[in-house]
Amino acid sequence: MDHDKKMKSIDKRIDEYHFKIKDSSDLKAESGVFDTPTLKTLYTLASKGIITAMGGVVSTGKEADVFHAIGENGKELAIKIYRINTSDFQKMQDYLIGDPRFSNVRGTKKDIVFAWTKKEQRNLERAAEVGVKVPEPMISERNILIMEFIGKDGVSAPRLKDVRLEEPQPIYDTVADYMRLLYQKAKLVHGDLSEYNILLYEERPVIIDMGQAVMLEHPMAREFLARDVKNIVRYFKKSGVKCSEEELSAHILKKD
Ligand SMILES: Nc1ncnc2c1ncn2[C@@H]1O[C@H](COP(=O)(O)OP(=O)(O)O)[C@@H](O)[C@H]1O
Ligand SMILES: [Mg+2]
Repeated sequence: MDHDKKMKSIDKRIDEYHFKIKDSSDLKAESGVFDTPTLKTLYTLASKGIITAMGGVVSTGKEADVFHAIGENGKELAIKIYRINTSDFQKMQDYLIGDPRFSNVRGTKKDIVFAWTKKEQRNLERAAEVGVKVPEPMISERNILIMEFIGKDGVSAPRLKDVRLEEPQPIYDTVADYMRLLYQKAKLVHGDLSEYNILLYEERPVIIDMGQAVMLEHPMAREFLARDVKNIVRYFKKSGVKCSEEELSAHILKKD
């Protein structure tokens, strides 16, 4: 596509969005869903050209909401916005304290949630570095994490939970390799791995939702790993793969 044509199609797409971000009053008038500090942060990101248009909500969760947006050059983005008043604040603190990267995070709810957002960004970066397919994180600011959108035209790729796998074996093998890479190379345990936090995009698994992932030094790391293994084996057994917790654990833990 030539440049002009491409820009036109981006403009058209942006026009279809809930609001274009030109100034902060735009955001205020047309959103209503964001609190003032979040709006200000979104505006800062928009004024830097990182976000050009906000789309609709993709998911509302317990701790965070995920929105679709358009970034530079019309690239689709996922924007995860953590709630400051999350109900899982205590859990966040526990997961942060045992992690050497964040062990001295203290303070208000707000500080904990900001640290949590940074932690998810760092975890995604570490995962990507060792070759685990995750949404590429771009930037985080306060309680907002901006990352690559896994999906197309504002529609997220389905979670494993939402699909019936025709050929589950290669998907299982890849997930098992990703768990091993995370453990051996990134020194991370996901901690909430299941069919809910794996998307299927172009017939390949993509690991998401890494806020709670911890370094191996975390006192609960081995327990979290055992739980991840259990969830993955349960799901893939049901999908028809011959696998076991012992085998998967051995695959993850074995030295080269
Ligand atoms: N990068 C992304 N691209 C596309 N969709 C995403 C992305 N990140 C999250 N989602 C969508 O939002 C949902 C919730 O995201 P997740 O990170 O799992 O947060 P939660 O803590 O609410 O479980 C996912 O199941 C997925 O549908
Ligand atoms: Mg999730």
